[in-house]
Amino acid sequence: MLDVRRAAFADLTGQVALVTGAARGQGRLHCLALADAGADIAALDVCRDLDVPSYPLATRAELDEVVAAVESMGRRALPLVADVRDPAEVDGAVAAVAMEFGRLDVLVNNAAVVTSAPFWELSEDQWSAVIDTNLTGIWRTTKAAADLVRRSPRGRIVNIGSTGGVRAVPEFAHYVAAKHGVVGLTQAMAIELANDGVTVNAILPGAVDSPMLAGLAGELGLTPEDVHKRWLHDQLLVEVISPAEVTGALLWLLSDAARHVTGHCLAVDGGALAR
Ligand SMILES: NC(=O)c1ccc[n+]([C@@H]2O[C@H](COP(=O)([O-])OP(=O)(O)OC[C@H]3O[C@@H](n4cnc5c(N)ncnc54)[C@H](O)[C@@H]3O)[C@@H](O)[C@H]2O)c1
Repeated sequence: MLDVRRAAFADLTGQVALVTGAARGQGRLHCLALADAGADIAALDVCRDLDVPSYPLATRAELDEVVAAVESMGRRALPLVADVRDPAEVDGAVAAVAMEFGRLDVLVNNAAVVTSAPFWELSEDQWSAVIDTNLTGIWRTTKAAADLVRRSPRGRIVNIGSTGGVRAVPEFAHYVAAKHGVVGLTQAMAIELANDGVTVNAILPGAVDSPMLAGLAGELGLTPEDVHKRWLHDQLLVEVISPAEVTGALLWLLSDAARHVTGHCLAVDGGALAR
């Protein structure tokens, strides 16, 4: 008989996972949880500040801390400093995964940035950075990794979207456009990879406690609490969401219980999309 309890927990023993935006926030926790589930980890992050957004991005020291934490769990970890906006850097990072591990089973496309302004005030640089990182970065990374993931006996791709991927939020037009794109891209990839037995899903978080939320607050001249209030007002369950809840959804999507879940968008949003 199927052990349902066991099937609902991801067992990634002997597998390799690549996580983008891995050095801090949700990506960091995803790395630790996937390592705990048995996977070796390729942890990719840009590890430097960029012109957009104006808040600081992760550092090399933070990436090294993730690598050390994974290794302390007895797993192998490969740090990859790369910008998902740069095709050559992404190709190089995936080549390093192939060289180091010879396989790739799980790809978590998590890297993203955010800024906020009415659409008529967005600069070309803000528009381009958000679309190129949050949407095109997923296509670019998955394109580079597709050969490896298709060869996995149980390939899984999870794209981190947002509730902004299925409904509009004012003053985030570029982010909303990018995250709507992530939903469509997830479904298109799910169709095209189904014959290889690869599932492709998205998680749509609501407001999650993370450096992104704090950075956005700083850009807007607000406190994180102000931003929480502004983003939480339409959640049915109004508390800010812990990164662990997003990681929990990821683990379920990677479990055997979710073998036939593909092309799906799973909201972890305190019920905001119910309205
Ligand atoms: N925090 C929230 O409230 C919230 C809500 C909905 C969705 N999300 C999504 O969750 C995901 C994780 O965000 P987070 O909250 O952990 O934010 P975060 O800012 O802490 O993490 C994002 C990571 O991506 C990295 N990164 C940014 N640009 C990159 C690039 N060009 N190349 C490689 N790495 C890059 C950053 O250095 C950082 O480590 C994102 O996709 C985000 O859009 C977050």
